[in-house]
Amino acid sequence: MKELLKKLLPQKWIKAFRYRNMNLDDYYMLPKSEITYANDLLYTYHNADFMKEPRFAEAYRLCKEIGGDLLKDYDIQWRIHVLCWAASQAAHLEGDFVDCGVNTGFCPRAVIHYVDFNKLNKKYYFLDTFSGMDERYSTPYEMERSKKLKYGESGSLYEKVKKTFAPFNVELIKGPIPDTLAQVPTQKVCYLSIDMNSVKPEVAALEFFWDKMVHGGYIILDDYGYPGCIEQKLAHDAFAASKGVKVLSLPTCQGLIIKP
Ligand SMILES: C[S@@+](CC[C@H](N)C(=O)[O-])C[C@H]1O[C@@H](n2cnc3c(N)ncnc32)[C@H](O)[C@@H]1O
Repeated sequence: MKELLKKLLPQKWIKAFRYRNMNLDDYYMLPKSEITYANDLLYTYHNADFMKEPRFAEAYRLCKEIGGDLLKDYDIQWRIHVLCWAASQAAHLEGDFVDCGVNTGFCPRAVIHYVDFNKLNKKYYFLDTFSGMDERYSTPYEMERSKKLKYGESGSLYEKVKKTFAPFNVELIKGPIPDTLAQVPTQKVCYLSIDMNSVKPEVAALEFFWDKMVHGGYIILDDYGYPGCIEQKLAHDAFAASKGVKVLSLPTCQGLIIKP
């Protein structure tokens, strides 16, 4: 009977039944071949079908295209999925999009495609020095780590990003945060992505944009749970506590705050 059922029932039903009836010990016995995602310090058996969605697949392809050497042998689909999801939610809200820490812009490139940004009637502000960390605002440890992670910015980064995003409703604001924050003209923000690998400018950006975030607006903290970034996590938590909210820790290492 068991054998007959095995033949007749679709494999995915059998799998679902097996997983649902597992006890704790069985979980440690799951075969490696059934891992659904293993990138970017995250491996899981959970469903990762978002990667098959054609719109996402194209967004991710575009992200890789401008990710250069950084993404040559490294994949971050689940992180990009989180950004695309937050952006598609924020698309329904009033306000603009802001990225603090843009580099080549591989993350916003995926987001722009995924939400068809030009159709949203919003502006996307890109803030970066476009020349790496500023030693006035980053610690020697942060500067050193950035060098190791190969975020070595070439002299032409600003021009490159300008060219890549010329077809989109994007405004580049060049210079170090916090100095440039006051140049962002919008009074309403619904999507804020923070990825500067550095405590001081990240907290400055959070402080500056908090009152401008619309209710239900999304803040994504790229390094929140990343190994080696504990100072950022502690600072993000302290900021959130000062506003009476908590950061949602995601298994991708990102932190998420939704403005109440
Ligand atoms: C990890 S990279 C960002 C990667 C980006 N999320 C992407 O999609 O390509 C960090 C960026 O933060 C920028 N950065 C670091 N400190 C900064 C500061 N004080 N003001 C502005 N940008 C800063 C660096 O120039 C660098 O481009």
